[in-house]
Amino acid sequence: LIHLLSTEGLPKAIMTQLLDTAEAFLSIHQREIKKVPLLRGKSVFNLFFENSTRTRTTFEIAAKRLSADVINLDIARSSTAKGESLLDTIANLSAMQADMFVVRHSQSGAPFLIAQHCAPHVHVINAGDGQHAHPTQGLLDMLTIRHYKKEFHNLSVAIVGDVAHSRVARSDIHALSTLGVPDIRVVGPKTLVPDSLRPLGVRVCHDLREGLKDVDVIITLRLQSERMSGALLPSSGEYFRTYGITPERLQWAKDDAIVMHPGPINRGVEIASSVADGERSVILPQVTFGIAVRMAVMGTIAGNMA
Ligand code: CP
Repeated sequence: LIHLLSTEGLPKAIMTQLLDTAEAFLSIHQREIKKVPLLRGKSVFNLFFENSTRTRTTFEIAAKRLSADVINLDIARSSTAKGESLLDTIANLSAMQADMFVVRHSQSGAPFLIAQHCAPHVHVINAGDGQHAHPTQGLLDMLTIRHYKKEFHNLSVAIVGDVAHSRVARSDIHALSTLGVPDIRVVGPKTLVPDSLRPLGVRVCHDLREGLKDVDVIITLRLQSERMSGALLPSSGEYFRTYGITPERLQWAKDDAIVMHPGPINRGVEIASSVADGERSVILPQVTFGIAVRMAVMGTIAGNMA
């Protein structure tokens, strides 16, 4: 692994190895071992051109647990505001002896562009680009599912909400199909779950009851209003009445179904508070697993460092 830009095309063997490594890091932390030296002497630059709470923070924690030096560029106060181009910013940070860039950007493809133009010894991890990909979220979602459900080959998974604008949904769908999940459903209104998603190998459901029927895993997504024009955006009340995950609707899924959400959640829009905080919710464990997954990704990349 040189860069991690997408879960699309990531071979099953590498994905499984990353999940196994993440699990090993989880058990290390249960034994109170806080740090390992895999990235000692290396500099990890967090470049978040778009807002983040979970991803940015867990990348920082993960890099520090691998003993890296972590630099969080404050984009709002950086010279990006003076018109410096993305690639010039990258060239200048590379001159500061960066070893790894963790990049979030509102433009799909930005981390790919950086990977094409940065020095050969520099590694790039996509922390979410536009509506295209969020591979570490995809992997942490797979670790969560494997933790609670053990196997992938017998699962039904419903991804409910604004799939059209969701990089998480795309990364999850690629990872779920690579790992052999036979029944992947995308569920929501036609404007947010278009038929054009079918070539990804998913079943498109516009009826929530049909979409949730007997599933093992529900992945709930928020309405990504920042990526929608007004015409597409349903009112939050209207959306909740039709597609919100409530305790009553949860009963359509299997009795032991888990409820996931990448965050941030909008309570009373895509999910009722009683479900988000309920006994089937694994939303906060997902965040914890994110640290282990990001350690696994950076640690694996470190094995290929000059
Ligand atoms: N899941 C996720 O990417 O959350 P943040 O936007 O807070 O990083």
